[in-house]
Amino acid sequence: MTINADVQAAGLSAPTIPTRAPERVLQVGPLMPIVQATIAAEHGAVRVPDGVERAAFLAEHGSEFTVAVTSGKVGVDAELMAALPNLRAVVNFGVGYDTTDVAQARARGILISNTPDVLNDCVADTALALLLDVFRRTSAADRFVRRGDWLNGNFPLATKLSGKRIGIVGLGRIGTAIAQRVEGFNCVISYHNRKPAVGVDYRYVASLTELATDSDALIVAAAGGSDSVKLITAEVLAALGPQGVLINIARGTVVDEAALVEALLSGALGGAGLDVFEAEPHVPEALLALDNVVLLPHLASGTTETRAMMADLTLANLHSFLLDGSLVTPVSH
Ligand code: 8YV
Repeated sequence: MTINADVQAAGLSAPTIPTRAPERVLQVGPLMPIVQATIAAEHGAVRVPDGVERAAFLAEHGSEFTVAVTSGKVGVDAELMAALPNLRAVVNFGVGYDTTDVAQARARGILISNTPDVLNDCVADTALALLLDVFRRTSAADRFVRRGDWLNGNFPLATKLSGKRIGIVGLGRIGTAIAQRVEGFNCVISYHNRKPAVGVDYRYVASLTELATDSDALIVAAAGGSDSVKLITAEVLAALGPQGVLINIARGTVVDEAALVEALLSGALGGAGLDVFEAEPHVPEALLALDNVVLLPHLASGTTETRAMMADLTLANLHSFLLDGSLVTPVSH
């Protein structure tokens, strides 16, 4: 494969924006069409093959690439990063970059950028959609109407959301946007972070189990990655209790998914609203049959408006790196 194969295949002209001579751009995994087309046309990016040809491609070309453009879904894992000895930056589409080998990047001085802030509104909106759906059972009621069950009687009463006690796990940018929305429902907000957030009036709870005990719903908004694996344990779910609700718009890895399934099946947990799973796109089979669980296909940031802003910020980071080696929104790692 030639370095400009994708550009030629797409019928696009050669790079038009000057790129510092030694920089070569690698696309890792699928990206939004506009991002793919732009990095191919303007920077001659090629996509690393996903299949059996990957090893041979990397053996021949791996040392040519200095910057990788990827998404939170795919990332640059340990093996790929090791096969890119001259990599200096990973430009990540998405706020989460847990699929990229952060430890290796740190050790090798490889910069990473993400797309913070531009998706806060949509991810927070999705958390509220899940929260309302699980409490008021709108998806279940929709299924009830479509099945024709209304003809035989009324839908059972649901649970009021307004005024409930909401615990937010991870009061960062997205967690804060969720809190602002939940305030509109006159809910009582508490949160758990590693340490109290500066200048925040919501009640801080140092113990996650205590936060769960004190909450009607726990909303997980913590970053993924090695620090937060299975943060929501069986014990936390038990503390949330048979009337409690778990909402997760963060990463599937943050919750002990086997314990979650077990708690939902046994009735130890009241319900769940999940946008993320441990092994996407696979969802635990047992959840599909549960009417008190709302399942979404990792769509929290998935609106035309937000994805366009994420694409712009991804390209801005790449352009900045290619011009002077800096990133617009670097992560600290
Ligand atoms: C994206 C996300 O769908 O930004 C994130 O971290 O989870 C989502 O907004 C995903 O990153 C795209 O791969």
